[in-house]
Amino acid sequence: MLEIKNISKVYGAGTTKVVALNNVSLRVNKGDFIAVMGPSGSGKSTLLNIIGGLDSPSSGEVLLDAKRIDNLDENALVEIRREKIAYVFQEYHLIPSLTALENVLLPLTFCGANKKDQKALDILKRVGLEKRAEHKPSQLSGGEQQRVAIARALVNDPSLILADEPTGNMDRKTGKEILALFDQLNREGRSIVMVTHDPEIAEYAKEIVVLQDGQIVDKINQEGGNKC
Ligand SMILES: Nc1ncnc2c1ncn2[C@@H]1O[C@H](COP(=O)(O)OP(=O)(O)O)[C@@H](O)[C@H]1O
Ligand SMILES: [Mg+2]
Repeated sequence: MLEIKNISKVYGAGTTKVVALNNVSLRVNKGDFIAVMGPSGSGKSTLLNIIGGLDSPSSGEVLLDAKRIDNLDENALVEIRREKIAYVFQEYHLIPSLTALENVLLPLTFCGANKKDQKALDILKRVGLEKRAEHKPSQLSGGEQQRVAIARALVNDPSLILADEPTGNMDRKTGKEILALFDQLNREGRSIVMVTHDPEIAEYAKEIVVLQDGQIVDKINQEGGNKC
């Protein structure tokens, strides 16, 4: 469903030039669960941002359902991302002044108020937070805030979820609860590409892609042998 071909990303020029990605190709099929690992600065976030259209490559192609999206204008890209791709960040990126329910409602711009509320509540229930709907982010634990962020990511029913160090700000036990949720979403047929530093978290994925100096240096298939 999503493919990147011979992607390179260069930041800066001259003495400040950084090659963040160097000729990277990767396919994400329906139902894939890929963990991207590698040292700090190896290009993991850059890769995820290019897959999700948050950043554009210096060269190479990004294809979504066999259509090129790397050369689309901003508006067309926003439209595609809203329909198919959801992002989950390490820092949750919730709006502090809004309740959990209001945060989840944010992307739901196109349906009536009552329907919206019900849908957002259903999704909060799905992530185990129906009792926290009226709480603000500051009243929630890190794991709960990430669940709200995941609920917000799910409202538009994405087929691909991109997560950059989604458990980076929590203890491992809470991280594993978040991964159990990702595992369920993956079993529903959603594809997941997740950046992580933690080998125990990466074990939940079906495949591990290892980046080093902007290049894929290893691909490890974990199907059959992983935790889930
Ligand atoms: N906006 C930017 N401007 C300049 N250099 C950048 C920018 N974003 C990332 N880089 C550089 O690109 C490399 C890869 O960064 P990144 O993808 O964030 O790595 P990772 O997520 O693996 O830690 C690093 O050397 C980083 O300093
Ligand atoms: Mg990063």
